[in-house]
Amino acid sequence: MKKIPPKYLLGFAVVFAASQFARPSRIPAAASGPGDLFVKYPPATEVSRLLAAACLDCHSASTRYPWYAEVQPVGWWLSGHIRNGRTALNFSALASLPASAITHQLDACVDAVNHGEMPPTSYRLLHADARLGDTEKVQLTSWFQDLADKISTGSGKK
Ligand code: HEC
Repeated sequence: MKKIPPKYLLGFAVVFAASQFARPSRIPAAASGPGDLFVKYPPATEVSRLLAAACLDCHSASTRYPWYAEVQPVGWWLSGHIRNGRTALNFSALASLPASAITHQLDACVDAVNHGEMPPTSYRLLHADARLGDTEKVQLTSWFQDLADKISTGSGKK
């Protein structure tokens, strides 16, 4: 293995140290309001637990930031991820969308979980409780599916 010249190591150390001062802005946790899907349609305890363990850090206003979010560039990488996740899907605001948009998102959730796309691999590596077993996937996807059915029936279209 080739040795890394000390001046590169020093350069890296300086950039790393300096980057600790440039913090990404945390995306504020909004109090859950009427747009919160889980306030409007409260899931059973077990489903709530699975959602919190596997989805809500990126798809709701209640992100739990891990200690390593304080370490740059990890913090930047995380906030980019969270921003993208919330843009794609935000359970804390979902209930204020039209019924068709809600059911569309819920269907996408069923697919994402069934295909193993969500939660993302990098997240599963870091969070043991986000590695969903088959039974847990069924519990979660059934809740998404049942709610989608209930909403689309309720809105008079099917
Ligand atoms: C580590 C952050 C993270 C977690 C945890 C996570 N997601 Fe995502 N999710 C994202 C990001 C980022 C995107 C948007 C980019 C993409 O599609 O990869 C996304 C996109 C989605 C989409 C939209 C896909 C589309 O077709 O547009 C759905 C649905 C979704 N996630 C559902 C879930 C569900 C359900 C869970 C929990 C089982 C979950 N996600 C957990 C980050 C996350």
